Amino acid sequence: MKLVVTGVTGQVALSLVERAPPGVTVIPLGRPTLDLADPAGIAPALAGLGADLVVNAAAYTAVDKAETDRDAAFAVNATGAGAVALAARTLGLPLIHLSTDYVFDGAGPAPYVETDRPAPTGVYGASKLAGEAAVAAAHPGAVIARTAWVYSPFGSNFVKTMLRLAATRDELGVVADQIGNPTSALDIADGVLKMAANLLARPGDPDLSGLFHMTASGEASWADFAERIFAASAVAGGPAARVRRIATADYPTPARRPANSRLGCARLAAVHGVRLPDWRSAVDDVVARLLTARENIA
Ligand SMILES: NC(=O)c1ccc[n+]([C@@H]2O[C@H](COP(=O)([O-])OP(=O)(O)OC[C@H]3O[C@@H](n4cnc5c(N)ncnc54)[C@H](OP(=O)(O)O)[C@@H]3O)[C@@H](O)[C@H]2O)c1
Repeated sequence: MKLVVTGVTGQVALSLVERAPPGVTVIPLGRPTLDLADPAGIAPALAGLGADLVVNAAAYTAVDKAETDRDAAFAVNATGAGAVALAARTLGLPLIHLSTDYVFDGAGPAPYVETDRPAPTGVYGASKLAGEAAVAAAHPGAVIARTAWVYSPFGSNFVKTMLRLAATRDELGVVADQIGNPTSALDIADGVLKMAANLLARPGDPDLSGLFHMTASGEASWADFAERIFAASAVAGGPAARVRRIATADYPTPARRPANSRLGCARLAAVHGVRLPDWRSAVDDVVARLLTARENIA
């Protein structure tokens, strides 16, 4: 199995490279070879690689910056995603496209399922929702997998930020009234690889395609997430801070985040046999790994 994944430096792309089992080749493709903001260059960049499947993991992910950078966010997350889907379909390749919990407004009381109505509260979520529509229109057999609160040993993420801040501060204020599913990109990679194997084993099976939610099991607030990071860090002799539980109103950001961004993942388990591990054990693993190579936190 040969997968092409967009985004050489991204958390999910790097996790796919690391988690590919023997017999699976992952080819990461990113700027300048493949630029999602240059739709005309996407099909030529994907052609001729001998790929069996495309994973679109590249995205404009700067949630707050997107509020004042709307055109760039939509160019990559909507137009670019649609161009990847069209290129994959034209090449006859299955596609797994990643999307986000931020397509929901978070006003609902329960974990969101795939049939719930999206209503993004910010530009990033709106651009990703437009991307879902563009992907579905260009490649009806595509899998669109929404995930959330992604962290990993790679790139920039909440776990690294917390560990870095705890190195110089005794106490950190962390939002306690937004709940979601912290999800390791390494576990996302495992889920994507299983879905890819299913798609290639049952080509064209419409039951396997469409919208799926894919997050770690269990739920947490950002404050719960931070407390778990520091507990795991303390065990390993790393930095740990006290968590002061604050309200969203006390930590204003340019983009409004959903209060409830939990995703229900039953469809993914039923159709693809994918159930990601509990978020707590995944956090412990990533923290332990980061602390064995402390320069990675910086
Ligand atoms: N991070 C989260 O918390 C989160 C939450 C929910 C859903 N998701 C979704 O999950 C997927 C993977 O996210 P991630 O956390 O792995 O992302 P990430 O670590 O922020 O990486 C994003 C990747 O996209 C690439 N990229 C950005 N603009 C591009 C362009 N114009 N052309 C080509 N590549 C471009 C970046 O490359 P450069 O190095 O060139 O910038 C980088 O490799 C995305 O679809 C994201 O929307 C993420």
